[in-house]
Amino acid sequence: MNKYFINTYGCQMNYSDTERLSAILEQLGYAPAQTENEADFVLFNTCSIRQKAEDRVYGQMRKLVRMKRERPNLLVGITGCMVRESSTINSEEQDKLLKQEPVDLVFKIDDLPKLGGLIKEVQPDFKTPISEGDLESYFHIAPKRESKVQVWVPIQTGCDKFCTYCIVPFARGRETSRPMQKIVDECAAAVESGAAEITLLGQTVDSYGISVQDKLGGRVKIDGEIPNVVFNQGIFKGENMMASSDGARQKETAERPFVTLLKEIDKLKAKGLKRLRYSSPHPQDFCEELIILHKELDTLQPWIHLPVQSGNNKVLKDMRRTYTREHYLNLIKLIKKHVPDCAISTDIIAGFPGETEEEFMESIDLMKEMECDMAFMAQYSPRRGTYSAKHLKDDVPKEEKARRFHMLNDTLTEISRQKYAQFMGQTVEVLVERQDGQRCSGRTPHYKEVFFNSGRDLVGKLVSVKVTKTDNFFLKGELV
Ligand code: 5AD
Ligand code: SF4
Repeated sequence: MNKYFINTYGCQMNYSDTERLSAILEQLGYAPAQTENEADFVLFNTCSIRQKAEDRVYGQMRKLVRMKRERPNLLVGITGCMVRESSTINSEEQDKLLKQEPVDLVFKIDDLPKLGGLIKEVQPDFKTPISEGDLESYFHIAPKRESKVQVWVPIQTGCDKFCTYCIVPFARGRETSRPMQKIVDECAAAVESGAAEITLLGQTVDSYGISVQDKLGGRVKIDGEIPNVVFNQGIFKGENMMASSDGARQKETAERPFVTLLKEIDKLKAKGLKRLRYSSPHPQDFCEELIILHKELDTLQPWIHLPVQSGNNKVLKDMRRTYTREHYLNLIKLIKKHVPDCAISTDIIAGFPGETEEEFMESIDLMKEMECDMAFMAQYSPRRGTYSAKHLKDDVPKEEKARRFHMLNDTLTEISRQKYAQFMGQTVEVLVERQDGQRCSGRTPHYKEVFFNSGRDLVGKLVSVKVTKTDNFFLKGELV
C-alpha cells in the first residue's frame, strides 16, 4: 500500500486542514507513513503569513530534491496558503510553485475533493476508489483527528477584512460561513467520540454568519485588489442556518449568529463537552453580548485571544484595522468588568511601514494597559500582492524591527511572569494533552500550560493540579 507523509506549517487552521487532508488520502487508498523516507507521497501544508514561514517550507522542500532523484516515483504535493491555483506539472496553466524542482502537484485546500484527479494527471495508473462527486465539498470530508479529546472545528473559511499587510484574504478567498447545523452536528459527533474540548476556528469568528458572502449567497470575485467589501451591515437573516433544537426555524433576530452558535454548542455539555474555545475574533465585530457569554455558558472558557496589531491609531488606519485603540481598550475594559479573571492574549506587529518610535511605544503601552497574558508578536514582512507591499514603503530598517520585536517580548515576559505568579498555590483544572513516561502536560481553563508527574495514564482526562512553581510562560504542580 502507498504511504503518505504531511509536513504542516502555520496556524491551527492549517493543522485542522491537515486532519481533513489525511482523511482524504486514506480514502484514496494511502496509509500513513512514520517518516518522509518511507512515504510515496510527501505533502506540504504551507503557511505564507510571513516570509520566514515560506522560507521554512522552501528549506524543507530542498531536502526532497535528492530523495526524489533516488526515488523518481516519489510524489511531492503542496497545499495551504502558498498555493494560488490547483494544477500539476502536466497542466496547461501552472501555479508558480510547480517550478520548484521536487514538486509534482499543487492544490488549494478547498480543492481537496479534486486531489484524486490531480494525482491521476501525474500518475495515470493511479486508481481511486472515490470520485470528486463523492466528496462534494471540503467540509463534507470527515477529518481524521489527531486527538479525540481536544478537537478543532472550522466554522468559516477565508477572510473579508483585507488588512493591508495580510495575505490570508488572497490565499484563502472570501469569507464564507459553514451552515450552523453542520457545525453543531460535527461538534456533537466529536463529543460522542469522546471530545472534552472543542475549539471553533476561523480567521474572524465573530463575523460568523454576517459576512458579505453569507448575505449574497454567492461568490464575490477578486483579482488581487481589494474588493468593495461592505462590513457588517444588517443582521444575518438565518436562511440556510439551523432549525433550533426545538425544531422551530431560527427567526430573524438581533442575536449574532456566532452567539447563537456558541449557545447551541454549549448544550453539548449534557453529552460530555467540558470546554469550548474559539480563535480568533476581530475587534470590529467583538461585542459585550459575546463577552457576557463567557460567564453565562458553562463550557466557554475564561480566555479571549483578541488580535490588536498596533496600539497607535494612525498605524491601525494604515493597516486597515477598522477600529481605534480606544475601541479596543474599551472592549478590554468590558472583558475585565464581566469576567474579571479572564486571560487575554493578542497579536502585535512591529515595524509596520511608517511606524515611528513614538507610535510603536503606544503598542508597548497598550500591552501594559491591557495586561495581556500572552501575545504573538511579529516583525512586519511585506507579502507580495497585498496592499501594503504594493503601496507602502517597508521603511523600518531590519535591525530596528528586531529591536522593537525584542522590546515587545521583554514587556510581555514581565507581564506574563506576574500573571503566572498569581496561580502559585492554587489548585487548577488541567486537561491532560501529553504524557511522556511520568511527565504530563496540559492546559488550564485560562490556557496556561501546566507540567506535573503521574504514574497513571492520564491523557485526555481532566485532573486537579496544585501549582507549586510558576515561570514566565508555564506552571508546575502536583496532582491532588
Ligand atoms: N507581517 C507580519 N506579521 C503578519 N501577520 C499577518 N501578516 C503579517 C505580515 N505581513 C501576523 C498578524 C496576524 C498573525 C496571524 O500574523 O499579527 O494576526
Ligand atoms: Fe488577515 Fe486581517 Fe483577515 Fe486576520 S482579519 S486574516 S489579519 S486580513
